[in-house]
Formats: sequence, structure tokens, C-alpha cells
Amino acid sequence: MGFRKIASTLAVASALALPAGLAEAAGTVEVLHWWTSGGEAKAVGELKKAFEAQGGKWVDSPIAGGGGDAAMTALRARVVAGDPPTAVQLKGPGIQEWAEQGVLADVQDVAEQEKWDDKLPKVLAGIMKYDGNYVAAPVNIHRVDWIWANPAVLAKVGAQMPTTWDEFNATADKLKAAGITPLAHGGQPWQDATLFEVIALGVGGPEFYKKALVELDQDALSGDTMVKVFDQLRKLRGYVDPNFSGRDWNLATAMVMRGEAAFQIMGDWAKGEFLAAGKVPGKDFLCAAAPGKGFILNSDSLVFFKVSDKDEQEGQKVLASLTMSPDFQKSFNLAKGSIPANTTVPLDDFDECAKKSKEDLQQAIAADSLVPSMAHEMAVSRTVRGEFMDLVTNFFNSDMSSQDAAKNLAAAVKRGQQL
Ligand code: GAL
Repeated sequence: MGFRKIASTLAVASALALPAGLAEAAGTVEVLHWWTSGGEAKAVGELKKAFEAQGGKWVDSPIAGGGGDAAMTALRARVVAGDPPTAVQLKGPGIQEWAEQGVLADVQDVAEQEKWDDKLPKVLAGIMKYDGNYVAAPVNIHRVDWIWANPAVLAKVGAQMPTTWDEFNATADKLKAAGITPLAHGGQPWQDATLFEVIALGVGGPEFYKKALVELDQDALSGDTMVKVFDQLRKLRGYVDPNFSGRDWNLATAMVMRGEAAFQIMGDWAKGEFLAAGKVPGKDFLCAAAPGKGFILNSDSLVFFKVSDKDEQEGQKVLASLTMSPDFQKSFNLAKGSIPANTTVPLDDFDECAKKSKEDLQQAIAADSLVPSMAHEMAVSRTVRGEFMDLVTNFFNSDMSSQDAAKNLAAAVKRGQQL
């Protein structure tokens, strides 16, 4: 029997295995995403598995590239060509930008029926809606301001996880003197911007972060605190290895796993990589909130585009409901490194890092120190984010002074706002 014949026989057999009508009822979805690393692929595999278990057809459209810049370029081309995917990994103000173009479909009937408003933190529910209707379903809550470490490497210089930036610098200096790379980093604009915003929160505090990175206040962008932020970023530049340029973030995580570097400053999708490699938190790797007060929020969601095919429209409803279901939120987030967006899901089977994330999130909400990630598209328009990334990357790869960087940043952001 040829391959085609086997495949079609299998297809008929699996269709027969389903109760009549279920395959059609669950519909079809094409999902565009950038979850391609070890941990990410495992997590999205959970969604595919769950959707297929309901009898649906999943068409996978992965676009590699951490931070999603390549995926967003591909999405624009698809929408312009009049051929949008059924659902897209998308977030923050980007959701509103697409909704304003009139190209999003709402899943409000599903959300109302399942009482999403009662299950999501208010801040997230707001981001998922346009004109009062849900156009997106959140899959998780990622925290950006984490430090990951290899305890065996820290032990070599008798160091613990740092709790202040001064401690971080002192430990990094010791590691460097011992011939060990202190910081695993990938020199890509979004990764540079991730370091920058973690320092902005740590050095400046939540009020400063909001003023500079959310409200885009010119004084905050160009002032003394911003100069200090760039000073610390310059310090970090001295702690990376010579081959950092262009490296993917998951390869930087692998350096920490293998003991080739001590630390990585990265969101908790890095934990997904450690876990996918069989590493145990608290033993093989450590997690700690980066020095400072607050919590930088990054939440992934699936956004639904207007499609004319009935089967795809049905698929959107099934996918929306599945995305918020407790079973899926648990299995996806156990693999992804994040915590569930659906607050009714208990964290009993999650590790200490996840439990800390939830506790700190609640505290940050109460203390008004929860801030949206600029680097991960939760805070500002893509144009302004682009200006931040260009300037920060330029600073990281040149000998620009911190004073010039702050001044240039304020000017660049102003330019971005006018475009
Ligand atoms: C983030 C995204 C995460 C993770 C990361 C690296 O922007 O929210 O889910 O995938 O990029 O690709």
C-alpha cells in the first residue's frame, strides 16, 4: 500500500472513531504562532492535542523567531492578502490596533456563557476586549523580570542568588575574574530591550517605569534615573561572552543549563526550556525575581480573525472555549513556564517559581506595581517599541554614553509617537 493510500485509510479510520458529526462540530483552525523552542513547542502541542481530541482539525503555522517580530511581519502580509489565519498568538495594544482595522471576530457569546469576566484578572480582561466584546482568549501570565541561575556555577565563587543590582554586579565581577561568563545573553533587539526594561523597573521602580515606558513622559525618558538605567545596562554588556550577538534566547538558556554561564535575565518561558530538558527547579536551576519592586506582565493570547468559512468560524468558538478551560490552562502552563490566566485554576501541581509568580502578581496588583512589558508588546504601539529597541540595541553595541542614550531615547520615542 502506498503512503497516500495508508494516509487516507487512517483518516477514514480516525473519522469513524469519532461520534457522528463531532469532526465537523469542532471545526478547523489555522493557528499562527512563534512557539518553536523546546518548551514552547511542547506547550503549543498541548493545545493542538486538546483541539484534536474534540475532533477538530489543527493546521499549524509556526513562524520561528523569539519575541514574535517575524511572526507579526508574516501576519501583516496574510491580512493584506485577504487570507488571515483563524487564530493568531498576539497581545497587548496590538489586539486593539487590529480590532480598529475591523479584521477581528469576537467570541463574546462563548465568553459570556463561560463567565470569563469572573475568571480573569481585570487588567487582562480589558486587554482581551474591543468595544466591550472579547476578541481574544488569554492562555497565560508570563513574568518578564526573572533571573535564572545555575547553582553549581554560583557555588564555584561562593555566591548566592543576588537580591540587589550591586550584589549582582559584585557576583558577576567574581565570576568574570574566575573565567566564567556571568550572563548568558542573545544579542537580538527584543532581548536587549528585555534587559533594559527589567533594569528600568529594578533601578527606577514602578512609578518611573510607568512614566517612562508606558506614558512615554519626556522628562522620565531623558532624566537622571534613565541615565542610571543605562549605566546598569552598560555593566551587563561587560558580563556577556564574545559570541552573544544574534544568539537565540533558548540557546542562552542552554548555556546556563550546561554551566557555561551563571545567569540569564529572561521571562519565565526560559523555565519552559529548563523543564523540557528535564531540569529540576531549586536543584538544577534557580529562579528569583530580578532586584526591585513590581512585576512586569506579559500575557499571550489567541486572537481571532474574521474568516468566512463556516468550519473555521466553528473552530474559533471551540478553540476559545478550550483555551480558557482549566485542564488546558494547566497542561499548557506547566510546559510553558507561565501561570494560568484563568484564576480559578489551582496551582497545586506547579513548582515554586510558578507559586512565587502568582503571589508576587497578587501583591503587585494590590500595590499598583504591576507594569506591562514594553519589550513584549504589552505597553506601547509597535512603532514606539521599535524606537526603544533600536536605541537600546544601538547603545548595547556601541560606546554611546548613558547621558547621550537617555537624551537620544527621549527624541526617538517622540519621533515614534508622531509617525
Ligand atoms: C514572548 C512570548 C512568550 C515567549 C517569548 C520567546 O514575547 O510572550 O510566549 O514565547 O516571546 O519567544
